[in-house]
Amino acid sequence: MPVSNSHTLLGTDLPLEIPTLGFGVFQSTNAHASALSALSLGYRHLDTAQIYYNESATGVAVTEFLAANPSLSRSDIFICSKLWEVDLSLPGMPPTFESMGHPPPDGGEWKTTAEKLGETQYTTASAVSGFTRSLEAMGEGVGYIDLYLLHNPRPGPQARLEAWLGLQEMYNAGKTKALGVSNWSAKHIEELLADERVKVPVAVNQIEFHPWCQQRELVEYCRQKGIVVVAYSPLAQGTRLKDTVVVEVAEKYSRTPAQVVLRWCLQRGVVVIPKTDNEVRMRENMDLWGWELQEDDMARITALDEGIGGRVGEWDPDAWP
Ligand SMILES: NC(=O)c1ccc[n+]([C@@H]2O[C@H](COP(=O)([O-])OP(=O)(O)OC[C@H]3O[C@@H](n4cnc5c(N)ncnc54)[C@H](OP(=O)(O)O)[C@@H]3O)[C@@H](O)[C@H]2O)c1
Repeated sequence: MPVSNSHTLLGTDLPLEIPTLGFGVFQSTNAHASALSALSLGYRHLDTAQIYYNESATGVAVTEFLAANPSLSRSDIFICSKLWEVDLSLPGMPPTFESMGHPPPDGGEWKTTAEKLGETQYTTASAVSGFTRSLEAMGEGVGYIDLYLLHNPRPGPQARLEAWLGLQEMYNAGKTKALGVSNWSAKHIEELLADERVKVPVAVNQIEFHPWCQQRELVEYCRQKGIVVVAYSPLAQGTRLKDTVVVEVAEKYSRTPAQVVLRWCLQRGVVVIPKTDNEVRMRENMDLWGWELQEDDMARITALDEGIGGRVGEWDPDAWP
C-alpha cells in the first residue's frame, strides 16, 4: 500500500500539507542539537510543546538550519506546538522540564495542572497570550507556527471552547496556519464543533497510536471528519520493540523493528512523529519509503492491539469530561 509524503489539513485558507513523517522532541536531552540533526538529515516536520520546555531550542534550530541552507525557506519546514493547560511562565512553575521530576525547593508539588493551580490558560485571553509566548519563544526567524494544538481536554468543555476561540484569533491574524487538538475524544470534538462561534476546523487530533494502542474508533471518527491523526509515541517509547511478531516481520523484510512499527503506522493512514536523540536512529526512522508491508503482515501487527490499556502515556481521551 503506497503512503504519501504528506496529508492535507482542513482549514479555511489554501490547503496546507502536513509531512507524514515528523520528529518529536518530548524528553529530548538536547532538543536543539537533535532538531538540528533531524533537519540536516531531511526531516521537515518538528513537534514541540510548551510543557516540553524546548520550543525555544526547536525554533532556534529551525532558524539556524535555514540560515545555513539558503535554498530552503521557512515554508519548507512544518512546526507544531501545543498550548499547555496552565501558564508555565508564572512564578513558582518548574524552571525546566527536568525539574518537574523533583519537588519544588520549598516542598509541596508543582502546580502544572489546572486543578492544582486553580486556574487555566484555556480561556480566550490566556490562549492568545499563551500562543504568543510560544511564538516568541521560537524566535523571530520562525515567524509563525504551522499547527497549534490544545494539548489536552482538561479542564472541561467551556475552557476548551474559550481556548479555541482565542486560537482562532491567532489563526485569523496569520500567526498559525492550522489548529488542532490532542488527546481529545470524539465527544470533545463534537461538542466544540457544535458551537456556532467555531469557524476554524479541527485539522488534527494528536493521540497515542502504535500497534499496542490503536484507538480504532477515534481514528475512524477522525477519518470520517477529515481530521488528520498524528500518532504520538509511535514506537511505544521504545518499550515493545522486542515483540516477537514485530521482530519476525522485521526479519522477513530485512528491516528493524522500529521501521516496521513506523511503516505499519503510515500504512494505517496516520502521521508519525518518532523521537530520538541518536543520529543513527534518526536515519533508521526516516527510511520508511520504497518498501511496504504486505496485507498479511499488516494484519499480524494490527492483531497486537491491547486497546487503551496498551498505552504508554497518561492520556485516555475518554477519561475526561
Ligand atoms: N500530545 C501528547 O500528549 C504527546 C505525548 C507524548 C509524545 N508526544 C509527541 O510524540 C513524540 C514521540 O513520542 P515519544 O517521544 O513519547 O515516544 P516514541 O517516539 O514512541 O519513542 C521514543 C523512544 O524510543 C527510542 N527510539 C527512537 N527510535 C528508536 C529506534 N529506531 N530503535 C530503538 N529505540 C528508538 C528513543 O530513545 P533515544 O532518544 O535514546 O534514541 C526514545 O526512548 C514526542 O517526542 C512528542 O513530540 C505527544
